[in-house]
Amino acid sequence: MSSVQDTQGTQSIQGLQEAQGTQGSSKTSPKLLVNIDHIATLRNARGEGFPDPARAAGICEAAGADGIVFHLRGDRRHIRDEDLPKLKSMVKGTLDFEMAATQEMVGLCLDLEPTLCTLVPEGREELTTEGGLDVPAVVDEISKTAISPLQKKGIQVSLFVDPVLSHIDLSAEIGVEAIELHTGTFANAWMSGDSENVKREIDRLAEAAEYADGKGLLVNAGHGLNLDNLHAFLSAVPHLHEISIGHALISDALFLGLSTTVKAYLALLQGETGS
Ligand code: PXP
Repeated sequence: MSSVQDTQGTQSIQGLQEAQGTQGSSKTSPKLLVNIDHIATLRNARGEGFPDPARAAGICEAAGADGIVFHLRGDRRHIRDEDLPKLKSMVKGTLDFEMAATQEMVGLCLDLEPTLCTLVPEGREELTTEGGLDVPAVVDEISKTAISPLQKKGIQVSLFVDPVLSHIDLSAEIGVEAIELHTGTFANAWMSGDSENVKREIDRLAEAAEYADGKGLLVNAGHGLNLDNLHAFLSAVPHLHEISIGHALISDALFLGLSTTVKAYLALLQGETGS
């Protein structure tokens, strides 16, 4: 296992090299969807119009990302309603609207018509999504109120699930196109450095991915993935279609871009630009 994080909370260079080492292999690469929620977190901190999540989405796609994810939460803590049409007109690849299956969100999603809608559980107090849906408890309700109307409008539906085979069975039975495997428990195990736990979580995810693929579901994954743990995850888990990464990627972008930015300001201060 490579070193997990440096003291700044950034991912290790070794992780970056490992991730780069996966390029060029003959295996089909999973698609990268960038979650831009935390561009909005930064924007909202000052109550001004920047940084703009839609502009970030354009930069991510120009750099090769296959699509963009945003989570419109009931409390609007990051992405807000006014971001939706801007994201829709900016994003050319997959646009994944992540949301709780409430009546309000279903209405907004039907209006926006994204490529994909990922249904997640949502707790008011949580800092981020803490686990997959309790599929047996919600399946009847969300089939009627969310999945069926969304699919009728041509929006694909994915359920965010823990790697539990009975939950995958139910997902396949109700006819969603995809599941997104919750990788947060694996990511936490990785962070704790407990290799037995990491192996157990990776094995669960690999088994769940194999099982879901066998049931004809597209297999997406996300939560807590970063430059450090991604290589281990990708090498062990098969059939991955789309990977959604937000917090670590946006954090890394700050550190990978900070030096260039400081130089741009210094150049301006020193009168080396413009006239
Ligand atoms: N997938 C789902 C369903 C999520 O809720 C989140 C977090 O918003 C992610 C993926 C991305 O997780 P992270 O920000 O940890 O990369």
